[in-house]
Amino acid sequence: MRMVDIILKKRRGQELSTEEINFFIEGYTRENIPDYQAAAFLMAAFFQGLTPRETGDLTLAMARSGDQADLSSIPGRKVDKHSTGGVGDKTTLVLGPLVAAAGVPVAKMSGRGLGHTGGTIDKLESVPGFQVAMDNRSFLDQVNRVKLAVVAQTGHLAPADKKLYALRDVTATVDSIPLIAASVMSKKIAAGADAIVLDVKVGSGAFMKSPGEAFTLAGTMVDIGTRVGRQTVALVTDMDQPLGNAVGNALEVKEAIDTLKGKGPRDLRELCLTLGSEMILLAGLARDLETARSRLEQILDSGLALDKFREFITAQGGNAQIIERYELLPHAPIAQTVFADVEGYVREIQAEQVGLAAMTLGAGRATKDSAIDLSVGVVLHKKVGDKVNAGDPMFEIYATNRENAVLAEKIIRQAYSIGKEPPVRRNLILGKVT
Ligand code: URA
Repeated sequence: MRMVDIILKKRRGQELSTEEINFFIEGYTRENIPDYQAAAFLMAAFFQGLTPRETGDLTLAMARSGDQADLSSIPGRKVDKHSTGGVGDKTTLVLGPLVAAAGVPVAKMSGRGLGHTGGTIDKLESVPGFQVAMDNRSFLDQVNRVKLAVVAQTGHLAPADKKLYALRDVTATVDSIPLIAASVMSKKIAAGADAIVLDVKVGSGAFMKSPGEAFTLAGTMVDIGTRVGRQTVALVTDMDQPLGNAVGNALEVKEAIDTLKGKGPRDLRELCLTLGSEMILLAGLARDLETARSRLEQILDSGLALDKFREFITAQGGNAQIIERYELLPHAPIAQTVFADVEGYVREIQAEQVGLAAMTLGAGRATKDSAIDLSVGVVLHKKVGDKVNAGDPMFEIYATNRENAVLAEKIIRQAYSIGKEPPVRRNLILGKVT
């Protein structure tokens, strides 16, 4: 078999066999196939597309290219959750303890943030002492004991995807739905869960800008999951404005704890209950979504999810006193409130701009190796649909230097659209694909 023939076949729009896809991924992982041939293949796949069978084969080949977690020593159905990335998305910090307290074993491998979207691992690192690296034995033991462990994904998980993603980044082939779907699902499959709940974000702060694209991506990922025997459900959810109010690592941890205390923003609570209900159902722990939801509401409102969060933080070496004493989290020296100078209704908040403002403050990474500042970020006091009077507090900026604070203020002011009429609000949950 020769790589050049595989590229030519794809360039002509013909369907590749499983053997040809395996030959490409195995050869590329072992460095027998050079980047220039892989790049040519990606461009051919970008223009010609991949059939559902090819996409499934590509996913499995990438999932098998490195370590594959064996979670069989954990009793029960393991359910993972994945978000395609957004601004202010701290869902895992609430959802993990919430469903773990309901009995779902959660063995989670998470990533760091890149660009204007944040990563769970960065957020958790703002908890003093919290360890994001753990050997396999301790990881499995913790899931058995606590029902929840979250570790940083290593480069040994789907290394073929790691190499291909970096190559896509520099060859203008990132935004291909089959390539994105295979990339995301290869890591989820290698991470070993029996079932997967996907949160596909759509809107100005997400990868997918239109509902049409988001539903296609969701359908492609669900199809892959079904093909490889991992039950998968996808929700398409709104990312036209940030989720919750806080954007920035330690600020998001505070907001997640507030939510676990029953004092968090409504949209974050709602999303966690909705995704959590799907997880409970896939775990086989409730007979229908309504039963699952009322169980989760009870767990959240009784403080059991907060207790589980405390147990989880302590198990991974973190200082659980942060739950009562937010001042133990990293905090920025400059905190400044910005007030409204007009009256009306918030019609729009460009989520991507808010993410970029947080990046300007140092909360996000411009490149994979950039250092980040865990203390900085933004807290929005007005969300889409809210009434604004001149002089109302609009948002707060947390910064380490004045220059960045001024720049971030300017970006966020521009991110807000305020009009005379209240907007037609988009639903938080746009739909579900099974
Ligand atoms: N996230 C991934 O993991 N892969 C992609 O291709 C896009 C987003």
